[in-house]
Amino acid sequence: MKPFNHTKYKAFPFVNKADRQWPSKQILQAPTWCAVDLRDGNQALIEPMSVKQKQGLWGLLVKTGFKQIEIGFPSASQEDFDFCRWLIEKDQIPEDVSIQVLVQARDALIERTYEALIGVKQAIVHVYNSTSPVQREKVFKMGREGIIDIARRGAQKVKDEAAKYPEVKWTFQYSPESFSSTEEDFAIDICNAVIGVWQPRPEHKVIINLPATVECSTPNIFADQIERFCEQVNQRDAIEISLHTHNDRGCAVAAAELGLMAGADRIEGTLMGNGERTGNMDIITMAMNLYSQGIDPMLDFSNVDEIVRVVSECTQIQAHPRHPWVGELVYTAFSGSHQDAIRKCLALQAKDKDWDVAYLPIDPSDLGRDYQSVIRVNSQSGKGGVAYILEQNYSLRLPRWLQIEVSTKVQAYAEQSKSEVGSEQIWQIVKSHYMPPPTLRLKSYQVNKNEVNESITATLEDAEKTYEINGAGDGTLSAFCQAIESKLSIKPEIVHYDQHAIAEGTDAKAVAYIQAIINGKRYSGIGKSTDVLSASIHALLICINKAMTDD
Ligand code: KIV
Ligand code: ZN
Repeated sequence: MKPFNHTKYKAFPFVNKADRQWPSKQILQAPTWCAVDLRDGNQALIEPMSVKQKQGLWGLLVKTGFKQIEIGFPSASQEDFDFCRWLIEKDQIPEDVSIQVLVQARDALIERTYEALIGVKQAIVHVYNSTSPVQREKVFKMGREGIIDIARRGAQKVKDEAAKYPEVKWTFQYSPESFSSTEEDFAIDICNAVIGVWQPRPEHKVIINLPATVECSTPNIFADQIERFCEQVNQRDAIEISLHTHNDRGCAVAAAELGLMAGADRIEGTLMGNGERTGNMDIITMAMNLYSQGIDPMLDFSNVDEIVRVVSECTQIQAHPRHPWVGELVYTAFSGSHQDAIRKCLALQAKDKDWDVAYLPIDPSDLGRDYQSVIRVNSQSGKGGVAYILEQNYSLRLPRWLQIEVSTKVQAYAEQSKSEVGSEQIWQIVKSHYMPPPTLRLKSYQVNKNEVNESITATLEDAEKTYEINGAGDGTLSAFCQAIESKLSIKPEIVHYDQHAIAEGTDAKAVAYIQAIINGKRYSGIGKSTDVLSASIHALLICINKAMTDD
């Protein structure tokens, strides 16, 4: 047999629910979120979180707006037990937040769990056992009845222990572990058995959490499973259906979204999707998916960089630069056509209008990102990106003819350096090519206008001498060209001319862009000065200097 051999695997059993309703449903509001970073996320780390890291992550989760947070597995880990005690004894749990603790359906572990919770005001006790055929047959070596018995007895023990602390607002949660790989009828039977023990009421619900412990099918199959479960489970009005998807096939978010359409009420996951194997469902991604559709996710990601930093510090996992919604590069365009479109749309985007910017599904500033990083330049970039950076950072609104010229130079630099070209580097390229200190400089000038023409008298200087020049023409620039021609035998012909004022706050008040043909060749220059005419003469002198030194 070849080592890479697909015949080793069998297809996931097809769920054919012909009467499925979920494809015509829409998600119109955020689910109840439960963050499991401190439990499932922590269990998946090479180095589990230190107490300090857990405390930091707890603070972040509360600040982000989570009202249900699974904080650990206190009966299985002394550290989780101690963390639970710290939260309670140090009064760290806000009134509107419930901590959740996980426990296997075993008496001793359930007792220990309640010990960890002494003094809590409200909590979710989350009990689970494995239900899939592979677990039943190979791990537990039990039939269906035996497995149901474990769940039923666990549920009873959870209820009995809770009864010892009547002052606490308890919520019970049950997970048939590997729900999505469990036969549908058995999943219903075991959950109904637990519900039968707990006897929930609509005003005091229990949570049934349905995990895709290992993601084995396409998300539509998971949605069919959830819809069928919601239809068949007892006392649907007295239970909250929760989903807990893992990302083995890369579809944990999609499965949770379709599962929500299929009737679920609550979603468990982690920030940035840390979790066993390829991770838990990424709550930031799912919440931002809602946000981008105009739905309040009921979580606050306005300072997402802090969230990414704390999560990376706690998990020791660096965020991928293209992580959905929050990666460092997700609001950055390198491609020329994207940059051009973004620049045009941003210029037209009114503050009070619906967001409508090509290539930017949301406004990066909502997440605390700035516009500076939206457009970055490498060898794939076009004139739009370079123009945007020069305008944003250096107040230069390059005319189109010059945009093309400048971006060609920037691209050549990017190709040669094989790297991204930063804003400062672009500015250096512009300065060295279009604004070099001229050898022949303008010292002073005077303009006279009469009805017929304009005349100019100017003093130029270079390192060796000064030149007095005079000329006349239709306008001041043509007069200056004529003065240059008569003194220096150079005949500049201006072919492009643009200028604009510069916003307050800079020394120069005007910029001029000139392209002139001199001795049959085109030269471009940029001049900045306190007034438009001086800026224009400076730009023209740069062209003349270039021609004089060009062999
Ligand atoms: O993935 C899973 O099945 C779990 C359960 C314990 C809920 O984490
Ligand atoms: Zn899990």
